[in-house]
Formats: sequence, structure tokens, C-alpha cells
Amino acid sequence: MNVLEVENISKHYRQGGTRIEAVRSVSLTVREGEVLAFLGPNGAGKTTTIKMIAGLIEPHTGQVGIAGINPHRHPQALRKVGAVLEGNRNLYWRLTPEENLAYFGVLKGLTRSQAKRRAATLLERFELTEKRKTAVQNLSRGMQQKLAIATAIIHDPLLLLLDEPTLGLDVEATQTVKALIREIAQEGRAILLTTHQLDIAEELSDRVAIIQKGEIVAQAPTQELIRQFSGTHYVIEIEGELTFEQRETLAAIEATIESDRVVSIRGTEALYQALGILKPLPLVRVKRDQSSLTEIFLKLVRNEV
Ligand SMILES: Nc1ncnc2c1ncn2[C@@H]1O[C@H](COP(=O)(O)OP(=O)(O)OP(=O)(O)O)[C@@H](O)[C@H]1O
Ligand SMILES: [Mg+2]
Repeated sequence: MNVLEVENISKHYRQGGTRIEAVRSVSLTVREGEVLAFLGPNGAGKTTTIKMIAGLIEPHTGQVGIAGINPHRHPQALRKVGAVLEGNRNLYWRLTPEENLAYFGVLKGLTRSQAKRRAATLLERFELTEKRKTAVQNLSRGMQQKLAIATAIIHDPLLLLLDEPTLGLDVEATQTVKALIREIAQEGRAILLTTHQLDIAEELSDRVAIIQKGEIVAQAPTQELIRQFSGTHYVIEIEGELTFEQRETLAAIEATIESDRVVSIRGTEALYQALGILKPLPLVRVKRDQSSLTEIFLKLVRNEV
């Protein structure tokens, strides 16, 4: 089931005399349990799109559907949405984690006792129980970010919007937040995630949508996109010395000997020929040389495809 359906939404801003087309006819879907990485350079329109989905700003054209309901016409649809926007704006800095969770729980329609119970569970799960009575402003950035995510799911939403959830986190906190995102998706929630850390997007997402200057330029399953951009280039790593004869025969099938230990070759047929030539040298690994999401992203936004 599509938890989120965005159809042709557009938004422009006026600044002085000029009109900025922030988002142009963007369409997106996210299914339950799916992580969609929503990627694009600075100023591409990601946050504007997320704000329209979260019901914070109204699109000029098009519509948003959350579990089939338009939040701009029926705000109760927003009960199914949780969001962590840029810069932790979903927390009160003078309140403690416990108070934030209880406050936002009630705001999102839980009773006081439901909110308290759920807060205790989330504090435990996000390893914040010890800090439950410390004002948010005195927590570390990683703890604040975990709390922001916990607060966004206090009311058990179907859709979670995360705008740069790992910004400014250290290596360990990034790992923790990544694991939490994965877990939250496994619970069946749909997640829309923006990040400039493309390795994280590659690791976490089932699909990617790339936006540039307000327009979607690619939308595909992550692995499919990577396959599509990866040629049939293989790298063979070996142990031991290549003989003169092996070098000559490898050159004849257009293999490149990159160092004494690494041979690279194009095409599956040539790969098997090369393996025959290398026999009986021990193999360390044979690997298909894949494009990374970073390379693909750069090609797409530089218009090289
Ligand atoms: N309130 C506003 N008034 C005028 N222009 C705006 C406003 N908000 C956004 N914009 C413009 O809309 C465009 C898209 O901005 P947006 O914040 O959606 O980009 P983004 O993809 O989130 O970028 P980043 O990666 O830097 O967060 C930019 O040109 C931005 O300057
Ligand atoms: Mg942004």
C-alpha cells in the first residue's frame, strides 16, 4: 500500500521582483515499510517538498495523499505523519525528554496516560532513560537527534519524514540513528529521508528520488539504479606472481594489470577467460566494479547522462 502519494505538487516563492520555482510538478510515492531517499543539491526543493507533505505550507498546484487522505483538506490525516524537520525544530529545548514526549503525545491525540506509557517505552528503546529528566538543551547533539525521532513517532505514525537526520552527528551517533531508521521502517512505517550523506542513502534506502532545481530527475529502486549505472567491469585480485606468459595472454584479451595483484577486465566472457589464464594462482577476490550512489548522483545532477 502507498502510504504517501504526492501528485504534481508545485510551489513558488516571490523574492523582490523575481519568482523562484522552488518545486515544479513533483510526484512521489512511498509504500509501507519502504525508505525513500529524497536527494538533491542545496536549494533543490527538498525541504519545501517535505513541508508541503507535512501540511506546513500549501502547494500551489497538485496534491498530497497520506493513506489516501489529503492533509490540506483534511488535517486529521496529519495524525498519521511524524516529522523531524531541519534543525530539531520539533523539540522544546527547556523541557526534558520525558516532558517533550508527553507534550507532543497529547498534542498528537494520545491521552495523558497513553503518552506517558509510550514515552517510557521510547526512552528505553532510544537509550535515553537516564537522561529523561535533563533539559534538552543540555543533551548532546546525538541524544537530541534521537529524541527528535522518538518524538516524531510518539503517536505511532504510518509516515515518517526525516530531513537530514544525521546532520552534525559523530560516527557512532550516525550509526545509532541509521539503525533506528532501519528498525522504524521494519515496523512497517513509510520513511521519506533527505540526506547529503549519500553513503547513508545507499545503505538505508529501498528507492531513491533525485530532485534538481525543483524537478525530479530520477526515481528508481536504489539497487536497480546502481545496476543500471554499473558496467560489466570486473576486478580480480590475486596472490602470487604473474608469469610473463600470463601477462601477454591477459593483454591479448584487453585485461588491464593495475598492479601485480589486481587485474581488471570488461565483460563477463573476458572475465572467465582471464580466470582461466590466472589458474592456478590463488584468488583473493573477484568483484564487479559498481558505481556508488555518489557517482550516479553527480552524473545526474551534472547532466552527464
Ligand atoms: N520561505 C522562502 N522564501 C523564499 N524562497 C524560499 C523560501 N524557502 C525556500 N526558498 C527557496 O526555494 C528553493 C528550494 O529551497 P529548499 O529549502 O526546499 O531546498 P533544499 O533542497 O531543502 O536545500 P538544502 O539541501 O540546502 O536543505 C531555494 O531556492 C530557496 O532559496
Ligand atoms: Mg533542506
